[in-house]
Amino acid sequence: MSSMGDILYLSRANIEGLKISTKDVIQIVEEAFLEKAAGRTEVPPKPGIHPQRNAFIHAMPACIPKMDSAGVKWVSGFPDNPKHSLPYVSGLLILNDSKTGFPICVMDCTWITAKRTGAATAVAAKHLAREDSRILGILGCGAQGRSNLEALSVTCRGLEEVRAYDVSEENLHEYVEEMTAKHGLKIVPAVSPRKAVENSDVVVTAGPIFKHPKPVIEASWFKKGGFACPLDFDSYWKAEAMHSVDKFCTDDVEQLRYYQQQGYFSGIPEVYADLSEVVSSKKLGRENSSERIMSMHLGLAIEDMATATLVYEKAKKLKVGTRLPL
Ligand SMILES: NC(=O)c1ccc[n+]([C@@H]2O[C@H](COP(=O)([O-])OP(=O)(O)OC[C@H]3O[C@@H](n4cnc5c(N)ncnc54)[C@H](O)[C@@H]3O)[C@@H](O)[C@H]2O)c1
Repeated sequence: MSSMGDILYLSRANIEGLKISTKDVIQIVEEAFLEKAAGRTEVPPKPGIHPQRNAFIHAMPACIPKMDSAGVKWVSGFPDNPKHSLPYVSGLLILNDSKTGFPICVMDCTWITAKRTGAATAVAAKHLAREDSRILGILGCGAQGRSNLEALSVTCRGLEEVRAYDVSEENLHEYVEEMTAKHGLKIVPAVSPRKAVENSDVVVTAGPIFKHPKPVIEASWFKKGGFACPLDFDSYWKAEAMHSVDKFCTDDVEQLRYYQQQGYFSGIPEVYADLSEVVSSKKLGRENSSERIMSMHLGLAIEDMATATLVYEKAKKLKVGTRLPL
């Protein structure tokens, strides 16, 4: 990457129009975890500001020298936005030239945030879910509910059925219609969180994050041999349910500890492995078909920077975007 004097601006529509495949995003996110395992990335825990209760704006810098990728994502999550017909997540990502430090690209980060999070779940599922996983439970049928299903359908090839739950009947209905049309899978609306979790081989929770959660998922609901990936911190899973798993993993131990210092995750069990250790086979992933495994994903900036590199390179190749002077 090199360019000075101007930057490339990429809107959300520019990025969506590039038609980057989910498979490519999963592959580059997995490569980013391998680089992290080798100690060749820099990804400090994300600092944040909180202009409203349960809302955040996070700064997420990272550097992956092998991908010539360095930059920062400045991303917000405001839970009241959907009441005003606005998406929960919005933000920008800046890529810097890794030789000069110059900013070279500014892009909308909503597509990247959705896709890279689904990809990280798919990477975790590849190593931690049963290969014969057939039923997926999705709780929270928004942007993440969509991108996680899309990514998991690439990794979990035996997937046949999705049990979807959302507190909003309207959102659930739209999700069932849209996902049925998009994926050749049976998408079943679940009437309660319990119905979405029980008997599901893979469970993704993607509701809102609460600093003082009132979780509902019980240990007995989570199937033997299941794999769970919470994206909404510990908001959905009771402490006893998290303690009942055989292996509790996370996408980044350092970041999890940082959040614990901020008052989150008071009831989690001991961490078995960081996802990068599993991906690089430093630690064993799934060892048998009866283990219950959870991977708590907080979201990592290396996932963003790896995916942003794909976006930037393809946009340059196709001459998409707007050049702006610095
Ligand atoms: N860990 C990560 O890397 C990562 C990345 C991005 C987003 N997230 C988190 O994922 C969650 C979902 O984000 P999104 O962009 O999909 O939001 P979104 O607003 O697009 O969708 C959220 C959906 O959850 C539903 N919902 C609200 N409360 C619920 C509940 N108790 N049970 C079930 N559904 C409920 C809403 O009706 C909505 O349909 C947020 O908590 C967000 O912070 C995590």
